Amino acid sequence: MRIPVSRRHFIAGTGAALVGALTARKGSAYDTIEQHVTVDLNAEIARINPELHGHFAEHLGSCTYGGLWVGRDSRIANIEGYRKQAVDWLKALGIPVLRWPGGCFADDYHWRDGVGPQDKRPRTVNLHWGNYTEDNSFGTHEFIGLCRLLGAEPYLAGNVGSGTPRELRDWTEYCNYPAGSSLSEERIRNGAAEPFRVRYWGVGNENWGCGGNMKPEEYAGHYRRFATYLRPMGETKPFLIACGPNSNNIDWSRNFLDGMQGKQMPSGYSMHFYSSGKNTPEKFTIENMEEQLASFARMEKAVQQQRALLDSYDPDRKVGLMVDEWGVWDRMIPEEEKTHGRLWQQSTMRSAVAAAMGLNVFHRQADKLYMCNIAQIVNVLQSLLLTNDERCIRTSTYYAFELLKPHRAKTALRVDVGAMEAPGLSVSASRQDGDLVLTLVNPKHGSAMKVSCSLAGGTVKAAAARILHDSDFNAANTFETPDRLVIREHQVTSAGGSTLQISLPPMAVATVRIALG
Ligand code: AHR
Repeated sequence: MRIPVSRRHFIAGTGAALVGALTARKGSAYDTIEQHVTVDLNAEIARINPELHGHFAEHLGSCTYGGLWVGRDSRIANIEGYRKQAVDWLKALGIPVLRWPGGCFADDYHWRDGVGPQDKRPRTVNLHWGNYTEDNSFGTHEFIGLCRLLGAEPYLAGNVGSGTPRELRDWTEYCNYPAGSSLSEERIRNGAAEPFRVRYWGVGNENWGCGGNMKPEEYAGHYRRFATYLRPMGETKPFLIACGPNSNNIDWSRNFLDGMQGKQMPSGYSMHFYSSGKNTPEKFTIENMEEQLASFARMEKAVQQQRALLDSYDPDRKVGLMVDEWGVWDRMIPEEEKTHGRLWQQSTMRSAVAAAMGLNVFHRQADKLYMCNIAQIVNVLQSLLLTNDERCIRTSTYYAFELLKPHRAKTALRVDVGAMEAPGLSVSASRQDGDLVLTLVNPKHGSAMKVSCSLAGGTVKAAAARILHDSDFNAANTFETPDRLVIREHQVTSAGGSTLQISLPPMAVATVRIALG
């Protein structure tokens, strides 16, 4: 069932109530829920760090090789080996930060394998993700080159599980020491006269699992030992990120933090929170979709509880809490993994709703979070782009990120949505001077929503909305139909005084830009 969406979307704040374009068709299978929302323009939460919209690229499946990197000699259009279409689209979206090379891969990666002349680089076995060999043609210089092209801040995940403090310390020197040491001179000979000035350094990844199967107190010991040698190189002071819990594992955090004994506390503490799904992406049942979407309330609670625990060790909040892997992790289709690589996953309308619910959580918890990176940027799990040979398409998740982009660097505001049944309307709001941004997500497959929004402490001068919607929650952009799910303009039903009304069809993500009076 498709719902007509009006293209007229900009309403002057005259107080005139325009009739909404959205009405359920006769005999339609859904009802309409009336929902009231209050945005308090004076209740500031915190600045939304653009890094809350961050990304992650691993040597996994076709994320890096074949996805982002096709090689300089490829017949696929490329810029110095980077897939041109991917660069163009990611640049247009804006990638605040990019984490690499893993994931699990990071604790089996030896950076020296990926520097120097490409034909001299060793062939190594990717033991976590399929035991295939890779030629290391995408290494440190290629990653930094990609970040520069995208305007992204690089985040290198270091090897603690199978590496040594010396190896990681040397990587920081190679990247950041300006000149004069053997390692910095080697970087210069390899083509980078300027230091890379990498700030973000992960000290291991999932060290409770693929990063060495450690106990939290054991990892704390490793962390302290590694961190001792990760010092400023030249002018770049490293921002060290310690491995945090899987989901909301309080025991991991408590024992790790006890093990730190208040010394050498990290700059960042990274938890991972995946929203697992019981179906393959395009065959979700209502029940399993609702179960998956309900995980975002648990993620919000996890962020609050992990921050509260961190606060008891770090009352001044010097340690930034991060969710540096998150997103929907559905059931894979073995044939697709054979064709496209491990963890290749389609993104549907459900995934877009999930992405927007996740970003809304991060905005609402902007005072507790420093960085969040969705897994992963291309072809793996909840990706922004899918590629197949020379074809490259934007997924529904790409468009969810685009719709929420206007919140970046604005100040998050408190929103009251009242009591409702989960999964219900998800909202975040942010403001910069007279520019207010409101994102509303209707995760219900069977109900439209008539949202009436009051602004406490301000009035609406004008309002414009854009929407991503498909009433089929299993709908996706495919290589055959790449533009099934795209952002459209959407009507604001009425706007004037201190209220605004907007209707949301079932399964919709909408962002309203409001000029305040
Ligand atoms: O993102 C895929 C994998 O999920 C990562 O390699 C790992 O860190 C996590 O378990």
